[in-house]
Amino acid sequence: MNQQLFLLVLMAFIPHSIGVNYEFSLEDERVTSDCQNEPPETLNIDGMFDMSNMNFEMAEDGVTLSGYKTVVWDIQPTDRVELQGSVQHYDRGTWQPTTLNMLVKNICHVLFDKKQMWYNAYSKHITNSAHINDTCFRVKGSVIEFETYTISLEFGSGMSLQSGRYAIRLKFRAFDKDGKIRPNEICFEIKGQFSKKSFG
Ligand SMILES: *[C@@H]1O[C@H](CO)[C@@H](O)[C@H](O)[C@H]1NC(C)=O
Repeated sequence: MNQQLFLLVLMAFIPHSIGVNYEFSLEDERVTSDCQNEPPETLNIDGMFDMSNMNFEMAEDGVTLSGYKTVVWDIQPTDRVELQGSVQHYDRGTWQPTTLNMLVKNICHVLFDKKQMWYNAYSKHITNSAHINDTCFRVKGSVIEFETYTISLEFGSGMSLQSGRYAIRLKFRAFDKDGKIRPNEICFEIKGQFSKKSFG
C-alpha cells in the first residue's frame, strides 16, 4: 500500500499551474505491482518498507492514511539514494513511454525541502521528521511515522494528458561511498486511470 508514494511521484511529475484538473484512480487495492523484465536481484516494495502498520482508508475525497512504516531496505546510512520515475501509457494493447520522466539524484537531501512538490503530499506529514531527515530510507529498522491525513488524488496540470490507463514506475537505487551501485535495487509500479475532472 503506497498511496503516499504514488502521490509524491505524481506531484513531482505534473507541473503545478492553472489548467485542466485531473483525477487519478488506482487500478487495484494492492496499489503497487512488481516491475516486469527486471534483473532477479531487484526487489519490490516489500524490499523497502514493512507497511503492515500503515492504515489506508479510501474515502470520497481521497485516501486517509495513518500509522508508521518500517524501513527494511538493507543499505548503509552513508549511501546516496537515487529515485528514478517514469510514466507509461497503455495504448492499443501495449505500454508506451511518455515524456513524464524524472531523476532525483539524492532524494535524501531534498526529502524535507519545502520547495519540492512532494513536500505537501508526503514529507510534511512525517511526524518524526528531525530523525528521518537524517536516516531517510537508509537505516534498516528505522520507523517513519505519519500523522493522520487525507491525500487528495486531484491535481491541476498545465499540460494535456490523454485519459486512460497509466503506470507510474519508481526505482530506488543506492550507491555506496565509492559511488558503486548496490545490487538490491527497488522497483515497483502504481497503475491507475487518469481522467479529466468535471467542474460544477
Ligand atoms: C534537515 O536537515 C537540513 C540540513 O541539516 C536542515 O537544514 C533542515 O532544517 C532539516 N529539516 C528538518 C525537517 O529537520
